[in-house]
Amino acid sequence: MFAHNLLKTARAKHFNLKSFHTSIVTSFDVELTQVRYSNLKRGKYSSITDKHISFFESILSKSRVLTDAADVESYNVDWLKTVRGASKAVLKPKTTEEVSAILRYCNENVLAVCPQGGNTGLVGGSVPVFDEIVLSTALMNEVISINKTSGVLVCQAGCILENLEAKVAEQGLMMPLDLGAKGSCHIGGNISTNAGGIRLLRYGSLHGSVLGVEAVKADGTVVDCLSTLKKDNTGYHLKHLFLGSEGTLGVVTKAAIQCPPKPQAVNVAFLALDSFENVLATFRLARSCLGEILSSFEFMDCDSLMAAVTRLKLQCPVPEDTPFSLLIETSGGNSEHDEAKLSLFLDEATNKGYINDGTLASEPSRIKNLWDLREGITQSLSCDGYVYKYDISLPIEHFYDIVDIMKERLKGTPYIKCCGYGHVGDGNLHLNITAPSFDRNLLNLIEPFVYEWTSKHRGSVSAEHGIGFKKTGVVHFSKSGEALKLMAQIKAIMDPKGILNPYKVLPGDPH
Ligand code: FAD
Ligand code: MLT
Ligand code: ZN
Repeated sequence: MFAHNLLKTARAKHFNLKSFHTSIVTSFDVELTQVRYSNLKRGKYSSITDKHISFFESILSKSRVLTDAADVESYNVDWLKTVRGASKAVLKPKTTEEVSAILRYCNENVLAVCPQGGNTGLVGGSVPVFDEIVLSTALMNEVISINKTSGVLVCQAGCILENLEAKVAEQGLMMPLDLGAKGSCHIGGNISTNAGGIRLLRYGSLHGSVLGVEAVKADGTVVDCLSTLKKDNTGYHLKHLFLGSEGTLGVVTKAAIQCPPKPQAVNVAFLALDSFENVLATFRLARSCLGEILSSFEFMDCDSLMAAVTRLKLQCPVPEDTPFSLLIETSGGNSEHDEAKLSLFLDEATNKGYINDGTLASEPSRIKNLWDLREGITQSLSCDGYVYKYDISLPIEHFYDIVDIMKERLKGTPYIKCCGYGHVGDGNLHLNITAPSFDRNLLNLIEPFVYEWTSKHRGSVSAEHGIGFKKTGVVHFSKSGEALKLMAQIKAIMDPKGILNPYKVLPGDPH
């Protein structure tokens, strides 16, 4: 029988994702991007003047145009505190019409703009590089409609994911995506990064569940692709251009999202394993035994889990020296049926010697405690100082190799942790290396090696976080020259003056 000896004891302490200090580094300590990356050249954009500010105040009102340095600062620094822009103005529109008026004016006046949602992006895409104006969607937070029959939600782009989850739950629905940043990230940011997260295994990518978007192009034109239909083959599927283009092709203002029914029964198993081979064997078994009720298959190595346990002061549900842990979630409509399936799976995995120990939860508070361990890793690693963060897709058989290879390569350097966690079910590894502070020599040891290795194994240099500012120089490892040329042509058509999120996604000069 499955030895869930810790079954009843896992009572992890709650932590607040929003109030938790991501790092001891304050915004003002972060080196300006233009200093750290001193070979970068500012594009030939206009600089913001009092005349421009007066115009923005005339369309938004004074209170929605931030120019005070202290107010603007948090919009200049990314969540990881690794890049810092020097914007002098933040604009907070409430409507599509206001976004359109802002962009029309910026385009005419060649003012660069950085669209920003919840600013939880992990590749430096959400903050300015130089002095781009920040266009924040924070006040575009209206739910427009929820259709209980079709399950379609229509809302503005600035709605916070967790708030949407609560809203659609009232109608017996759920959001098709979930991620650790749900308390802060906006649905428009999720769409613009094509965020993956912990439910992708079950509900697929946003390319499937986003039925339509409304977006504003650089010249202020509103592109209405806000279809709420499941089937619509009328010409080019333009909405996909806005999914994952990270604010370089348009500002997403509204979205229509297909929400699945909220499951009646959710179970979570947190399991201890002693080898990565056993992780893979357990995955194969989970797929065959759990089938349609499997909703997450997340893994973390010992250093990743212990970072969360230690920094967040959470109770560890497996022995503390466990090499690999898995968080497996099932979601379905019938608790008895699901529990029976899960129990059979756990018995078989135990009998085959794949898993050593673990704990099970079916009450919401205990499920949350177990998820906190997995979702808290990102924040906990930030507490070390600086995180070199890699988000790669790999063929499953090579999934963990790079963590051991990297540990060997970094011996003798001042790194603190080199660890791996991620979405095994999607072939997506998060390789993280932490150090007390940014160190150029350490970076040079990690990159481009990590990307060359990923490319050699036919992986992707960005599985879910995107290219942003940090990865424009390595996008060629995953995209052919022809594909990059086509991307540049699309950008030139949609944003000929290059005002939207310059220095991001596309390699080369912005202007
Ligand atoms: P921002 O960070 O504000 O912006 C991200 C990018 O989108 C920027 O390029 C910005 O210019 C652009 N953008 C934002 N809003 C718009 C808009 N309305 N129109 C056009 N462009 C826009 N990501 C995953 O994929 N999976 C995860 O599991 C995951 N977990 C995370 C956990 C934590 C703790 C953190 C901090 C981050 C995590 N992320 C994850 C990364 C991040 O949360 C996602 O990329 C998220 O989708 C970003 O949303 P946001 O609103 O914060 O966007
Ligand atoms: C995750 O899966 O936890 C997120 O993508 C964030 C991260 O990579 O740390
Ligand atoms: Zn992830």
